[in-house]
Amino acid sequence: MTALPSPNHCCSSSSSAYSLNSSIGIRQIQRNIPFSLIPQKKFGFKNVSFRSKCTPSLPEAVLMQDVVSKILSCLGALATKLVATNEASSPKELKEGLLTVNPPEEDENTVDSDAKGDDSTVSITIVGASGDLAKKKIFPALFALYYEDCLPEHFTIFGYARSKMTDAELRDMVSRTLTCRIDKRENCGEKMEQFLKRCFYHSGNYDSEQNFTELDGKLKEHEAGRVSNRLFYLSIPPNIFVDAVKCASRSASSANGWTRVIVEKPFGRDSDSSAALTRSLKQYLEEEQIFRIDHYLGKELVENLSVLRFSNLIFEPLWSRKYIRNVQLIFSEDFGTEGRGGYFDHYGIIRDIMQNHLLQILALFAMETPVSLDAEDIRNEKVKVLRSMRPIHVDDVVVGQYKGHTRGGQSYPGYTDDKTVPEDSLTPTFAAAALFIDNARWDGVPFLMKAGKALHDRRAEIRVQFRHVPGNLYYRNSGTDPDRATNELVIRVQPDEAIYLKINNKVPGLGMRLDRSNLNLLYKARYAKEIPDAYERLVLDAIEGERRLFIRSDELDAAWSLFTPVLKEIGEKKVIPEYYPYGSRGPVGAHYLAARHNVKWGDVGVDE
Ligand code: NDP
Ligand code: BG6
Repeated sequence: MTALPSPNHCCSSSSSAYSLNSSIGIRQIQRNIPFSLIPQKKFGFKNVSFRSKCTPSLPEAVLMQDVVSKILSCLGALATKLVATNEASSPKELKEGLLTVNPPEEDENTVDSDAKGDDSTVSITIVGASGDLAKKKIFPALFALYYEDCLPEHFTIFGYARSKMTDAELRDMVSRTLTCRIDKRENCGEKMEQFLKRCFYHSGNYDSEQNFTELDGKLKEHEAGRVSNRLFYLSIPPNIFVDAVKCASRSASSANGWTRVIVEKPFGRDSDSSAALTRSLKQYLEEEQIFRIDHYLGKELVENLSVLRFSNLIFEPLWSRKYIRNVQLIFSEDFGTEGRGGYFDHYGIIRDIMQNHLLQILALFAMETPVSLDAEDIRNEKVKVLRSMRPIHVDDVVVGQYKGHTRGGQSYPGYTDDKTVPEDSLTPTFAAAALFIDNARWDGVPFLMKAGKALHDRRAEIRVQFRHVPGNLYYRNSGTDPDRATNELVIRVQPDEAIYLKINNKVPGLGMRLDRSNLNLLYKARYAKEIPDAYERLVLDAIEGERRLFIRSDELDAAWSLFTPVLKEIGEKKVIPEYYPYGSRGPVGAHYLAARHNVKWGDVGVDE
């Protein structure tokens, strides 16, 4: 837990530097204290960050009172000093005065980027810029941030990959995937042009220090002597993560600002390989520099989970075994692994979706109230949930694989029809599992997960089924299935983001017939604004040094400890997946699994 400065801390000569320019949040001031104590070694870094106007955050509000009073006392002291010396009268001078109140006690090469205000730059290098993810998600996310004015004043984007490309060719490639939000159409072309002018390309190998040194030279040119902050986004296959980090660290890390690295999944394929990857990365990076991305954490409705729970009195008291019968975490896609079969066959759906995206949602859903909204407090609580989970029994897992299917004259390929997938592959493209959290809050409550490709629809949702009403007076009026009369809360992550609660009500009229209706918060009806893509939020958070939505190494270890034994057993026993037709609802085994735990999947209910 980070400590707040003492009231006089910012005014004392022995303190860290606090700046009050427009790009720094109050939380940032609070956050600087412990990080300034972290030894600045390896891949040189500073955790002081740019904070954009796009993220006024709740933690700031929570801490506002305390910190504001501290700042006011500092301002008071400063104002007295300024008036006395008659040195500053303009706002600019005042700001500069503030910036120099407490000279930082740091080595002279390390300059506080915020303290330098406009003198700092952020250089974002997308390693693997020629790839699918860069084109589909990262460049568009950066453009959206630029459009929303969320990026710092001085920023440069570099694409780095082996493919030969000129800056113009990169810009041409990127321009084809940029879009403007529906509500932001005006000036779109102009904005794109300005954005593309900030994008450059350097061709190089991932294991060449020489090539990264060349990149460093180009970054320096653009940084033009300002404080340099560097973000590397590893959008490359995992087998070259370590090479790229080693070369970037040795040859292209920032000399006087922070250096951070966003690492894409997969983070290994079991406990051992994940631990080996973490060990290798930590030869060159501190944990604080590693931003392990799980893009589901950046999705609006996943972020909203904690808000829903902790800011509404009606939910938190119900959030336990006492009132919740089961929780379902459902992911389905209506397309197969087309184009990614080579990658997918090595991982399968459990590693691709369950071990990370669904488990992260589960941890956020089930955690105890964190001490604060600080990243470490939230991640501490998530880790406790993961460590409390009962080992997964192989009988509590159903695996499936889609097969080719013809419908309405159109044929859909089976998983093994993909040329990059071995014909005899047993890799699951579907899985369902029952998980349990052995703690006081959740003892005995099944958390059912279901994830599949090539199913009948695309959706990601959390379904919370509440217990039956004890001694229900209206039992006879609700039909024959008591489960149908229980309340269900659905948090639909995508598509059509929504939160709805199924309640029972009387059908209007003279009789007494009950009906089920939804109290529905449908985002597109409630908010005119388009919801940002998860990558926008996450990239911005990485630039700002906000780690709340990134996976800490102990969380990762706990997630792998949970899934590794069952994955090993499935692999060793060569469990044959249950085949299901492309576009179907998946293997029937998922229903038997649910039934064994007295659960009915909510997404196949009659009112869906
Ligand atoms: P790609 O396979 O498209 O690879 C990205 C770039 O890496 C390529 O353009 C290529 O650039 C280089 N590259 C590819 N294979 C090799 C190789 N064997 N050796 C050296 N360089 C190679 O990956 P994606 O863009 O699809 O994904 C990037 C990362 O993000 C991966 O870790 C992936 O698992 C992860 N990811 C991807 C998602 C997606 O939707 N695509 C979703 C979630 C995670 P060049 O040849 O020019 O050097
Ligand atoms: C990725 C998986 O992490 O998430 C893919 O590797 C999957 O297999 C994708 O398709 C789904 O993400 P989204 O945001 O489209 O639901």
